[in-house]
Formats: sequence, C-alpha cells, structure tokens
Amino acid sequence: GDGGGRWRVMSKDTHSVLFPTPRRPDSCKCDCHFLTAGLVAAAFLVLLGFSLPHLPEPLALEPATTAPEVTLLIWTHPFGRKRPLPDCLARYGVDGCVLTDDRFEYARADGVLVHHRDVAAGTAELPPEVGRPSGQKWIWLNYESPSHTPDLWRLEGRFNLTMTYRADSDIFLPYGYLVHKHGGGQPLSEPSRTSRPGLVAWVVSNWVDSQARVAFYYQLSQYIQVDVFGRAGHSIPEGLGSVVRLVKHYHFYLALENSQHTDYITEKLWNAVLAGAVPVVLGPTRKNYERFLPPEAFIHVDDFPSVKALALYLLALRRDPARLLGHLRWRTGFGLRQPAFWGEHYCTACRALRKNIGRTHVVRDLTRWFES
Ligand SMILES: *[C@@H]1O[C@H](CO)[C@@H](O)[C@H](O)[C@H]1NC(C)=O
Repeated sequence: GDGGGRWRVMSKDTHSVLFPTPRRPDSCKCDCHFLTAGLVAAAFLVLLGFSLPHLPEPLALEPATTAPEVTLLIWTHPFGRKRPLPDCLARYGVDGCVLTDDRFEYARADGVLVHHRDVAAGTAELPPEVGRPSGQKWIWLNYESPSHTPDLWRLEGRFNLTMTYRADSDIFLPYGYLVHKHGGGQPLSEPSRTSRPGLVAWVVSNWVDSQARVAFYYQLSQYIQVDVFGRAGHSIPEGLGSVVRLVKHYHFYLALENSQHTDYITEKLWNAVLAGAVPVVLGPTRKNYERFLPPEAFIHVDDFPSVKALALYLLALRRDPARLLGHLRWRTGFGLRQPAFWGEHYCTACRALRKNIGRTHVVRDLTRWFES
C-alpha cells in the first residue's frame, strides 16, 4: 500500500502545525466557559436523564410492568465460552425474566437470543423454523463491527429484534456510556497528572497491516514516542495487569478501532477514559463520537490536517498542563457504565422481550441496516 494515504503528512505553515484548531477544546476561552458548561450539565440533568444529546438511554428505567414472566433461551454461549447465566433480578434488578441455555426449552421459550458469530461461522445452526412458536421472538445479538460480521445474508427474514452497540438497535446496549456521577457508574474524577511519565500508549492484540490504525501508528511514531503493548508489542509489565492500570501512566491513549463504522466505539475508548488519559480516537466520525462523550473529551485523528500536526499538538499539550486540563475537566460530572459481557446483555434482552410481549416485530434488511 501507500502507507495509508489519508495519513500522509502534508506540509503546513509552522503556526497551524503548532496551534492546530481542534474544533472544540479551545473555542471558548472566556469566562462563559463555566456558564456554558453549567448550562450544558443542567440540560443533561433535567431533560435527558444524564444521557448525552442524541444518545438513547440504554437502560432507561421503565415503570414496572405487569406482564407475565418470560423465558429467554440463550441459543449459544458467545464464542463457545460457557459461563453461568446470571440471576437477572439479583444481579441487575430485572424482574420477571427466566434465562435458560437448555435447548429442550425451545418450544416454550418466549424469545431466543442468537449470537451472530456462533451461527455464522458454522459451528452452530440457527434455531429450527419447524416448531417455532408463533409468538416467539428471535433476537440477533452482535458486538462485532460489520467488517467482522460475515454471512449476514443468511439471516435475512428470520429475526424479530436486534441487539448491538448501535444506538438504533431495537435493544441498544453500547460497550460503555456516560451517566451522571451519581448515576451508578464508576465515577470519573479529575485525574492527577503527576504520576504520568509516559506520553502515548497503544495496546493492540490483533495487528493487521492493512488496517487504518496500523498505518496511523506507523506515521505517528515517526514524530513521537508511542509505547506499544499487547500481543504485537511489549507485554504489559508485571503488576500492571490491566490495560486501565497501564494507561494510568500515560497522558494519551490510542483508542484505534479495528474498523470504522457507525457507533462502533469499543472498550478501547472507555479504558482510556477510566484511566484518565485523553483518548486519541480513530473510528467513526467526530460527530458520531460526540453522541457518546463531550467534544473536548477526545482527540479525533480527523481534527488535524496531518498526523504530524496531531503529534505536535500532543507534545504541546504535555508542555502546557492547563491546556491539557481542558480535555479532562468534563470528567467531574460523570460516571461510566460498562455493561458486563454477557450476563447484562442477556438480562437487558430479556427485559426488552418482556416489555414487548404480544407485539409483532420483524427485522427487515438486516444486512443493509447493519452495514450502513
Ligand atoms: C418474528 O419474525 C418472523 C420472521 O420474520 C415473523 O414471521 C414472525 O411473525 C415474528 N414474530 C413476532 C412475534 O414478532
């Protein structure tokens, strides 16, 4: 390839290189900043139940339903890894749901949750159409991006509800989402900068040269030090077991998605947020990220005319703690929720099933929708 054409470095005059205009962070330099922040926070609180503008609230609390108990059959354990099924009431406060992974329950299950990869890779069959109870709903469960979701065409016309990370799914549950700081998530505090010797970290387990993120890394590392961890780089040092603990030692974290698709924003971003590092993101558009977090909370690769300009911006931020803080101050009002794979997904699916019992849904154009 051409080394990732869209990341090719362009020459720019020094001023714009040193002071690129990331679209939002510095846009409000006056005292109005606090007022604006306050108003925005108030709007979140009052109007939107703490979710960000335009993002449907994943687990909006419903008034208690009087619908009868429902049974949800978990057709396969995702990726063949068998785990105990949770007690939805005890664990997630979800009432009236029975989960089972016993296929002998098929004929009496109100819903069947089908994880895409397991039926698409041919290791498991779809549930049988023969003997499918008329009121039964099949729920399509998938957390891979379209680039890693093969054989969608085989599933057309079979499903009733979708459950994915996409906000326009029938059942929306993202990899992570912000809540008000008292909203039950992990509180995000303004991180202390003192203990961060590192500049930029990247953890990558699946290195594929043709991916945009690898081209981006090659370019970025020409200008600044990027410490690479994971299967493709150093192993994560002893005692720093988790990605989050590792990233706490860095100012910036490369949250580069393996492919770029609508709403496909994974734990890579949320690991950085939890660690108090500023995420540098490569994924869907800036607008799309702004549905999930405040505009100044991340640095988007598209904010800059070149990778070199981005690199220089990161260096400038490191030299100027007050400016860096502009990317972190938002945190104090928020908490982070990260739904637990897969138990929370099961219970959330079951809750949606119970809510919709007696109604008919049909998923049309699964492929066209998911790939859009
Ligand atoms: C579920 O989807 C199937 C296939 O599209 C459809 O025939 C059936 O009527 C739907 N059932 C419900 C309960 O929505």
